[in-house]
Amino acid sequence: MSEQMERIGVLTSGGDAPGMNAAIRAVVRSCIYYKKKPVAIYRGYEGLIAGDFEDIDARSVSNIIQRGGTILKSSRSKEFMVPGGRELAYKNLKNAGIDGLITIGGNGTFTGARIFFEEFKFPVIGIPATIDNDIAGTDYTIGYDTACNKVLDAIDSIKDTASSHNRLFFIEVMGRHSGFIALRTAIAAGVEAVMIPEQEVSIEGLMQMIARGGKNKKSSTIVVVAEGCRTGSATEIAKKVDERYPEYDTKVTVLGHLQRGGTPSCTDRELASRMGVAAVEGLMMEKTCDMVGVLWHHVTYTPLKEVLNMEKLIDLDVFRINEILSI
Ligand code: F6P
Repeated sequence: MSEQMERIGVLTSGGDAPGMNAAIRAVVRSCIYYKKKPVAIYRGYEGLIAGDFEDIDARSVSNIIQRGGTILKSSRSKEFMVPGGRELAYKNLKNAGIDGLITIGGNGTFTGARIFFEEFKFPVIGIPATIDNDIAGTDYTIGYDTACNKVLDAIDSIKDTASSHNRLFFIEVMGRHSGFIALRTAIAAGVEAVMIPEQEVSIEGLMQMIARGGKNKKSSTIVVVAEGCRTGSATEIAKKVDERYPEYDTKVTVLGHLQRGGTPSCTDRELASRMGVAAVEGLMMEKTCDMVGVLWHHVTYTPLKEVLNMEKLIDLDVFRINEILSI
């Protein structure tokens, strides 16, 4: 265990994710448990560049485990992407006597963290938090489970109205370039079809799936569309369907940012708490540029370089399961 690691900075960066606060709490409390000094860095890398730091204590993170968003605020910093910005960030960390940094965020956050480590050899540990679940080296990212539950609630509600009117609904969910949220919620909500970036489905293919439901006397049809779907957005797909199949009464719901807010689920709070403790322990074990993950229920550390070079694969067998179950 490292004796030199006295002051540990923590920040959240990129899109917020429910459970980030639970991770911040875990980092702060485990620092104090191990007699280290936690330092809050506000507004992600922007705050790192501006020197927006504050010493915090165990009570500063009371009552936040159940809150969505991030008490540290977040940003997508353009300045950190240029060498001058990172130089300023390094100087601020040194001036504040900070020995190690914990960055809570997604792919963009880790790309920045890795470059920063390579340039200044400043120890950094990443905690994966994004609703998209698109980070390798961990089975789940913080925020993914809560976002899926939000989507599920919304689909359940839409199903009530869809079946009352015999309508065809396209529901667009987030996920950037990945279909994790779409595929998981499609199965869990019991929808007729799902469109994700990892598996292309043509409009004709989609209509065949929908027609099957019609033959089987279904009272409504729900199609979940991932925002990164290459066939088009939910609105564009609905337009194409309207043009070619005017007999359908189509509607579109884009769930948007409501998926990112709200109370974190039990799963996300637990995951965030475990990862927060592991991040502090990782720095104490002299890990310098790693990401904490949970794989097969066990805490792991993977070099950020590997994490960023690996693609997290989606299990396309879920399509087959959906086909079996949506008859
Ligand atoms: O990465 C999380 C995420 O919510 C994506 O699903 C989405 O594409 C993006 O962030 C939206 O970003 P912003 O809130 O900056 O519009």
